[in-house]
Amino acid sequence: MTKTTGTTTGTEGTPAVQVENVYKIFGRRSGEAARKLKAGASRADVASLGTAAVIDASFEVAKGEIFVVMGLSGSGKSTLIRMLNGLWKPTSGTVRLGGQDINAVGAKKLRDIRQKSVSMVFQHFALLPHRTVLDNAAYPLEIQGVDKASRLERARTALDLVGLTDWADKLPSQLSGGMRQRVGLARALAADTDVLLMDEAFSALDPLIRREMQEQLVELQSKLGKTIIFITHDLNEAMFLGDRIAVMRDGRIVQIGSSEEILSDPANDYVAQFVADVDRTRVLTASSLMHRPRAVVPMSAGPRGASRTMREAQVSAAYVVDRSRTLRGVVYDAEVVDALRAGVTSLEGLVRDDLTAVTEDTSLAEVFAPAAESPLPVPVTDAAGRLVGVIPRVVLLEAMVPQHLEETTDETSTQDSADDDTVASAAVEQAPTSAGAADAVAAEPVPADPSEQTTGEHP
Ligand SMILES: Nc1ncnc2c1ncn2[C@@H]1O[C@H](COP(=O)(O)OP(=O)(O)OP(=O)(O)O)[C@@H](O)[C@H]1O
Ligand SMILES: [Mg+2]
Repeated sequence: MTKTTGTTTGTEGTPAVQVENVYKIFGRRSGEAARKLKAGASRADVASLGTAAVIDASFEVAKGEIFVVMGLSGSGKSTLIRMLNGLWKPTSGTVRLGGQDINAVGAKKLRDIRQKSVSMVFQHFALLPHRTVLDNAAYPLEIQGVDKASRLERARTALDLVGLTDWADKLPSQLSGGMRQRVGLARALAADTDVLLMDEAFSALDPLIRREMQEQLVELQSKLGKTIIFITHDLNEAMFLGDRIAVMRDGRIVQIGSSEEILSDPANDYVAQFVADVDRTRVLTASSLMHRPRAVVPMSAGPRGASRTMREAQVSAAYVVDRSRTLRGVVYDAEVVDALRAGVTSLEGLVRDDLTAVTEDTSLAEVFAPAAESPLPVPVTDAAGRLVGVIPRVVLLEAMVPQHLEETTDETSTQDSADDDTVASAAVEQAPTSAGAADAVAAEPVPADPSEQTTGEHP
């Protein structure tokens, strides 16, 4: 698609969006309410002065990032996003797009920014019923006064991107809900703005189509490098899409972080409640759960070194790595001892490659199968195949328990979502029967810096 914007894009490295101490209070005495809030008053304290929809919001969104804003109904999400395209003016605070303070420019310039730098996709997209899909997609460009030939060309490209090439000449009424929403997306893409604001854009779609749209959005984002700010109250959607997620409550942003951060370290009970229902297996990755492997032997250690390592770690198997720490496989105690007895000096013939390794970014959902296949903790390797950690099965099972339920009794753990239960018990049922083998290779938590892992573990 031709790049015709750039009006407000700053230099490289400038965040696409910068929000600084932004307040939005609806009501006639909004300024007074903002002053009181800044002085420490609560939302309820200022209720008589107005509705504090957004309170002291600050965040930055990098170019090409998908930033998700989530929170319960009424928490201020739409109000916040509407200040990002100048639809609402903050009561206090600044909003910058590509470094430009959008409330410090004149009306004409602001209109220009709104047309060329940000576009918006809503839940119920207002398509013009008597115009074709193509004309609908081209509509914002028509408003901008782009000539007919080029606006139709750009609209066509956008329809191609969302998979509606063959529907260009149809009327909106001939489309399904998902397709109509795609037209909305195509319209935003045709405008070719740097920033896309999407307010519950997929919420009206049925689950399968919604998932398709989410996948398509991620694909489009990686292809086009748009900055996307996406509002949802669906945590699974937030976790799937968001590079980072801001959680809002009663007008305030209570936490900003990656899905993993929010899931594993919720800032408060409100966030913890939210994340209790999420399908954690799709969000968490192997790297977040891996532990330091206790029994690792270099190939060169031979059966003697291997047996010593297993004895010291009190385990019945050890991972074998070569000089560059590339995972070669596993050796088992009985075979190592037999080899020792027979005077064998090399591990070569003893190493078994019967375990499936996963990489650091493998989602937990995909760790279950290898975990069920092998009694050993699942080895985790980096892109180069080096052993960086292991996931003991018990850690995998524990991860299925939402954080705030962990300390509670058995009875309360029935609050656990049905999905979690299913996954956990499936993994247990499929587990091999070799008793006690699951802890064959013990493990301990891996420190935050992966480069430190397993040093000094060589026998
Ligand atoms: N134009 C308005 N005038 C007065 N109050 C408003 C206006 N728009 C929003 N509000 C109030 O501001 C608060 C935040 O509303 P907002 O629409 O931003 O919430 P939301 O998080 O988008 O909710 P939802 O998930 O239901 O869309 C609510 O209390 C709402 O009633
Ligand atoms: Mg809303």
